[in-house]
Amino acid sequence: IPVDTFDLVIFGGTGDLARRKILPGLYRRFQAGQMPEGARIIGAARSEMDAEGYRAMIREAIEEFVPEEKRVNAPLDGFLAQLDYVAIDATGTGGWDRLAEMMRADVVRAFYFSVGPALFGALAERLHDHGIANEQSRIVVEKPFGRDLESAGKLNRTLAQHFDETQIYRIDHYLGKETVQNLMAVRFGNVLFEPLWNSQYVDHIQITVAETVGIGGRGSYYDKSGAMRDMVQNHLMQLLCLIAMEPPSRFEPDSVRDEKLKVIRALDPVRPDDIVRGQYAASGDTGSYRDDADNPDSRTESFIALKVNVSNWRWAGTPFYLRTGKRLKARASEIAVVFKDAPHSIFGEEAGRHRNILSIRLQPNEGMTLGVTIKEPGPGGMRLIDVPLDMTFADALGPEGEDVPDAYERLIMDVIRGNQTLFMRGDEVEAAWAWTDPMIEAWEEDGRRPCSYEPGSTGPEEAQILMHRAGRRWREIKT
Ligand code: BG6
Repeated sequence: IPVDTFDLVIFGGTGDLARRKILPGLYRRFQAGQMPEGARIIGAARSEMDAEGYRAMIREAIEEFVPEEKRVNAPLDGFLAQLDYVAIDATGTGGWDRLAEMMRADVVRAFYFSVGPALFGALAERLHDHGIANEQSRIVVEKPFGRDLESAGKLNRTLAQHFDETQIYRIDHYLGKETVQNLMAVRFGNVLFEPLWNSQYVDHIQITVAETVGIGGRGSYYDKSGAMRDMVQNHLMQLLCLIAMEPPSRFEPDSVRDEKLKVIRALDPVRPDDIVRGQYAASGDTGSYRDDADNPDSRTESFIALKVNVSNWRWAGTPFYLRTGKRLKARASEIAVVFKDAPHSIFGEEAGRHRNILSIRLQPNEGMTLGVTIKEPGPGGMRLIDVPLDMTFADALGPEGEDVPDAYERLIMDVIRGNQTLFMRGDEVEAAWAWTDPMIEAWEEDGRRPCSYEPGSTGPEEAQILMHRAGRRWREIKT
């Protein structure tokens, strides 16, 4: 879908996210020939520098974050020529008149708030007072969107003073991942899955987002958040919503978001017994979570596993198991739909119990696999084995499947197109906090320490027990 030309202002344009994700993402769109003629990207930050200085900084960032082999065929100079810069005082007056002068009439205006939420209000107000934002303008805000229901509600109200909900794009970059959207294509584009997609046929669902990195370098943020706020309240909840939601009547922003909201509202409070929190221990040369957080008494979790019930007609009785953690065995994210056993085995008990599992891999090796049961080849009688029907995108789609666009590339282009489908609505974010707040409050109150786990493991033993209690097992964490 073609993109109109635009002025994109990135507040926090010299920051980590801008250098690591936003500008490399835009460069990749430029490479793909998707940057419209005359599009302009304006970095805005506190540092005094001119456009040349900014271009040099972004050249360095792209050289660092986009591998060399991915930079062939697209001269960086062409992309950098579209960049401009303005030094701005987010809470004062400096730079705003100049930014107002830079804005062009008749192009899409988008403002990316790649700054802490404390500045959202000041930026929104100034964009209005200086007549920089108009009714067609869009703002993009990053997580964390608050740290509880109260603060998120306050942020929503602050933004609403200056922008309509249709102008606000709350990013959850998991929604921009290729496989996450494919999940919707698979569910609603095929007749095969939807009839089985309920508690009658699904035993349980597992959502795993495992990372190998620790929290080193961002301990001061992370230690105040923990895995629940950092990953579950947003990314894992969004995945859960897309799996659990009813078919929206159309693939349109509010149809999809209405259905996601209904799922969040149908979540039961999680019983304390169904929550396992963990913290990675030290191992060899790597420090423990507490070393990385520089807080010897920290009770923040770097791992969490939960058993979640979606109390509605479709899912009652089919639990969703969620887990995510740092410093685990592998970087692997997967959604696994584990179907029930066949009601009766005509091959007898010795043929073994076999289950269909649909595995949707978010990263790495994006793709899907459906485990099916077949006869073991050979004359040895009716022995059954499980084989994967494999749809690794890179294999199935050739080079196009391999070169999956990064989440940020897609989401920024959706902002310019004015498509909010893959962005969170204010009420969704608040509903998600309303669900996580009581759990967080409960463990903050009882002061219990998270369980310890070995770096490079699959998390604390207690998370295994959570599954074993119900006669189930976690899927292996592997790349
Ligand atoms: C971020 C979290 O939102 O997502 C990080 O703040 C986490 O802690 C990251 O590492 C994971 O994103 P991805 O795309 O690498 O899976």
